[in-house]
Parts: sequence; C-alpha cells; structure tokens
Amino acid sequence: MTVPSRASEPTTVRVALGERAYDIIIGRGVIASLGARIAARAPGAKAAIVVDETVASMHLPAVQAALAADGIASSVITVPPGERSKRFAEFERVCEALVEARIERDDIVVALGGGVVGDLTGFAASVVRRGVDFVQVPTSLLAQVDSSVGGKTAINSRHGKNLLGAFHQPVLVLADTALLDSLPPREFSSGYAEVVKYALAEDAAFFEWLEANMHAVVAGEGGAREYAISMCCRMKADIVARDERETGDRALLNLGHTFGHAFEAAAGFSKKLLHGEAVAFGCVLAFEFSRALGISAGNEVGRVARHLAAAGLPTRIGDLAGPLPDVDTLMDLIAQDKKVRRGALTFILVRGIGDAFVAHDVDRAAVRAFLAAKLENP
Ligand SMILES: NC(=O)c1ccc[n+]([C@@H]2O[C@H](COP(=O)([O-])OP(=O)(O)OC[C@H]3O[C@@H](n4cnc5c(N)ncnc54)[C@H](O)[C@@H]3O)[C@@H](O)[C@H]2O)c1
Repeated sequence: MTVPSRASEPTTVRVALGERAYDIIIGRGVIASLGARIAARAPGAKAAIVVDETVASMHLPAVQAALAADGIASSVITVPPGERSKRFAEFERVCEALVEARIERDDIVVALGGGVVGDLTGFAASVVRRGVDFVQVPTSLLAQVDSSVGGKTAINSRHGKNLLGAFHQPVLVLADTALLDSLPPREFSSGYAEVVKYALAEDAAFFEWLEANMHAVVAGEGGAREYAISMCCRMKADIVARDERETGDRALLNLGHTFGHAFEAAAGFSKKLLHGEAVAFGCVLAFEFSRALGISAGNEVGRVARHLAAAGLPTRIGDLAGPLPDVDTLMDLIAQDKKVRRGALTFILVRGIGDAFVAHDVDRAAVRAFLAAKLENP
C-alpha cells in the first residue's frame, strides 16, 4: 500500500446516498474552495457559520475570506468549546440565531469545528425551517474521520449522551488537513484512536500501514495524514451507504465503544478521559474479551495495544486517571448504553485484526466476570 505521491491534490470520497449523496473533499488547504463550492451548488445563497470560540480564534478568518471571495455573505454564531455546548440551552440559542440571521431553505449553514460543533449544528440545521442544508468543515481529527460523515447529529439529554438528535446528511464535507496542525497533541491522539478503530474493524493491511506510518500521519508529512483520513472516510462512506440508519453493518464502527463508553461515562465525560482515549482502551478490551471467549486466537492483543500505546493512548487500567469505577457501575453503564435482550448484550467482537463482527448474544455474566478480573488484576 502506498501513499499518494502528490499530497497537495485533494481526494474526493463520494457518499452514495441517492438524492442525499455528497462529496467529502480531503486535502491541505481545501477550505479555500468553500465559497466556490457553495456558489456552484446554491447560487445566491448566504451562509451562517457556527463555530466554537477556540476554533474561531484560529480558523474563522480563513473561512470568512473563502466565502467572501465568491461573494457569499456570512454571519457567525459562536458557542463555547467543549461537550457542554451539546445541551438544550445552546441548541435553542443556535436555532434562534439561525432564524434571526434569516437562513432560508436556499441558504447554507456551515459547521466549523470538532464533533461537538458538527453534532450541534447538524441537529439545528435539521430542525430550522424543517431542515436546511449544511456543510461540515471538520477541524479535529475525530471529526474528519468520523463525526462529520454519515449524518448522525445529536445533543445530550440530562439522561445521557446523544439522546436527542436526527439523521441529517450534510451536502458537503471539506476536511482540510492543515487545520489539524493547531490541534493539541492529546486531541490529535484521541482522534487517531478512531483511525486505528477502522483498521481493527475492517482492514488488516491498513493497520499494518498505520504501524509503519503513524509518525508521518501525526507530523502531516508526505501525504500520509491525507491518505489515512481518506481511507477512514472511504470505509465510513461505504458502510453508511449500505446502512444509513445503523440497523446492521454500521454498528461495526462501534468497535471499542461499548467498553469505552462505560469508562468514559464513569469519568463523567470529562477531560479525565477523552472520547478517543476511551475508544482506544475499549478496543484493547474488545480484543481481550474476544480472546477470553475463544473467538480470536489472541496473539494479536499485544500488537494492538503496542500500537495504541505508541500513539500515547491508554491501553491498561493503570493508564486511566482514578478513582476507578467498580464492576457494578460498569455493568449498569453498559446496560444503559446497549439494548439488553433476555440478559444478553450486543457487542462488537473480533476474530482478529481487520475482522470485527456484531455479536447479539453476549452473556452478561461473561462480561461481568471479564471486567471483574480486569479490575482485580489491572
Ligand atoms: N455524529 C457522529 O457520528 C459522531 C461520531 C463520533 C463522535 N461524535 C461526537 O463528537 C464529539 C467529540 O468530537 P471532538 O473530539 O472533535 O470534540 P470537540 O468538538 O470538543 O473538539 C475537541 C477540542 O479541540 C478543539 N479544536 C477543534 N479543532 C481544533 C483545531 N483545528 N485547532 C485547535 N483546537 C481545535 C475544540 O475547541 C475542543 O476544545 C462528541 O460529542 C461525540 O459525541 C459524533
């Protein structure tokens, strides 16, 4: 597998969803083309940009200039950075601001930011005037490889994360890999966990490529970052085209998420454990649990953990900031997260690297015994 030779040339990945189909454009500097792409699609449209304060301070002027260059008038709606912006009060404020900015069906909403801004903005765009078009301009690695693609949008309820939302596909995704240069290293690593997750779920050769090229992906050298992001977007686009509403295959992308979510929730969705960090740890647990059930040969667990650890991600209980949850708390969180059918849980398990599958009949007692042993012998 080789890296494309001309790193500066954007890659286009099509999400084939019939009349809701759209392109993901990946490359360094692609935000400069935002105005031209919107003008070509919706002549005469005006735009409202939703952005968090941190991203606005670094990247808003470039986006405004790209719109102005093609004569697109834009207004800006700013939200505080972080998960707390995915709440009702902020959602209401963004919706009202979009109406106040007179965003109509022919106009465009631009989500400029990480997964938080993408989820909040996409949901607002799905309800304002019963649905307006929106463009995702993802600025975190997690958002470029995952949350900006596929049309899942949501905010959090007081009862749990992502419980209020809608499927609303963007009309375009512009993943400008240069924006990732300003991402704090811990946020980059957290997004990298999702990259590894794709490889572990579906593509052993891609995992091997990541083992050899991780440093170039982090440094943004020689087209490696663009190649890795394109690979993930291709896999996500394929799976979304097959299963837009996650009734089947799309669940494979939740590899590492059931265990990971339980630890993330136990840490209060705080900076103690970022989403991608929880996913990394969850992937290791999914491999270990698959080995414990005799489903995978098991000699790959060490290889998976070594790669994630080299990326600065947690792979052992001892890597997590304390205090640790007990097994009852974890089991409650897992049961809340997933449907329990007659005492059995749905998990994404692995036969090996690149070979994940959905298991609907995992015995609760087996999960409990596995986690209890893990907590006792970290
Ligand atoms: N819709 C989906 O399919 C989907 C999938 C996965 C995750 N998510 C959601 O995504 C969210 C997490 O996304 P995230 O990790 O991007 O979090 P985030 O949006 O909070 O971004 C992380 C931090 O990085 C900062 N940041 C973003 N881009 C930056 C840049 N270029 N330079 C400097 N700082 C930058 C942000 O201000 C923020 O402080 C969660 O709410 C999760 O539920 C959604």
